[in-house]
Amino acid sequence: MAVIPVALAGRAYEVVIEEGLLGRLAGAAAPFLKGYGPGRPVPFVADTNTHRLFAEGIDAHLAAAGLAADWFVVEPGEDAKSWAGLEELCDWLLGLGVTRSDHVFALGGGVVGDLVGFACAILKRGVGFVQLPTTLLAQVDSSVGGKTAINTPAGKNLIGAFHQPSLVLIDPLVLGTLPDREMRAGFAEVIKYGLLGDAAFFAWLEANGEKVLTREPAALEHAIATSIAMKARIVAADERETQDLRALLNLGHTFGHALEAETGFSDRLLHGEAVALGMVLAAKYSARRGEISADDASRAQAAIAAAGVPAKLIDLRLDCDGAVLVDHMRHDKKAEATTLPFLLLRALGEAYVARDVDLADIAAFLDQELAG
Ligand code: GLY
Repeated sequence: MAVIPVALAGRAYEVVIEEGLLGRLAGAAAPFLKGYGPGRPVPFVADTNTHRLFAEGIDAHLAAAGLAADWFVVEPGEDAKSWAGLEELCDWLLGLGVTRSDHVFALGGGVVGDLVGFACAILKRGVGFVQLPTTLLAQVDSSVGGKTAINTPAGKNLIGAFHQPSLVLIDPLVLGTLPDREMRAGFAEVIKYGLLGDAAFFAWLEANGEKVLTREPAALEHAIATSIAMKARIVAADERETQDLRALLNLGHTFGHALEAETGFSDRLLHGEAVALGMVLAAKYSARRGEISADDASRAQAAIAAAGVPAKLIDLRLDCDGAVLVDHMRHDKKAEATTLPFLLLRALGEAYVARDVDLADIAAFLDQELAG
């Protein structure tokens, strides 16, 4: 078991990681279940997959604790993070009579967490919520840190708010039913923590990645806890991403966003897969600038390839050139008025924000990578 505090003044909370936590929910989340009872059910939001897999167990567990759940179930996928989905969820929560001292429970991946978090941010000017992340990606990244959002036709996550959860309960056992491809995509975000700020963790992942991917309990908990501990430190120091610190968590995301945009934000390239390839490109571009060695860039690429996620741009077989990818980057919400910050590497385990990158050089670099 690991308990990791997120030390935000006035909004501090804990991330608890323990096998079987979902089956002990009533005890683990007791302070956030006050006010609920058999006649006043706890609002749970899930997608059809997490509802099918876990709702029955949660219902039985809550009943034994003298509680009941009321479920709002969305279709899996980004479409749920829409204005219409938000409206429906807010209306449902209002219909339940949720108050500002209540907590809403989000059981799912990043989509459910982002949607619930944003609904709770605006409902009655702020209702509490508890994150129960069910994908590796949500467990190591999106469930912690309070970034909540929906999508619009203009882009992903463009409408949102910082709204911290009151508690994050991570049960690694739920990953037992996660499709392998999603597990690998989430693992890319774990590698991200090693590359951006912890060389020893990166080396540990090189040696133990397979154990994490096969869900060996001790390795999995160590990987999740180390990732969350770093994220918690960063969020506590730079909650609103104003000091070039939280921005480090975007390693691989600027290149990755362009690849997601070019592939239509579709199943052709999952978010974690785009970040994986984005990190390879960031490492190779750092080597091109002479900031890390070509050997270090190859080491980063090998670790990502070993995780079974895309590690070579040519393999995506994109029908575009580097200039088109750069154009996608300009529409990234992290773009500034006149510049585009890039997350690059000074070493394996040390990322930094570069603001002097020439976009024409990025396009030329991408042309080379697209050609292999
Ligand atoms: N996923 C990046 C962040 O939470 O800041």
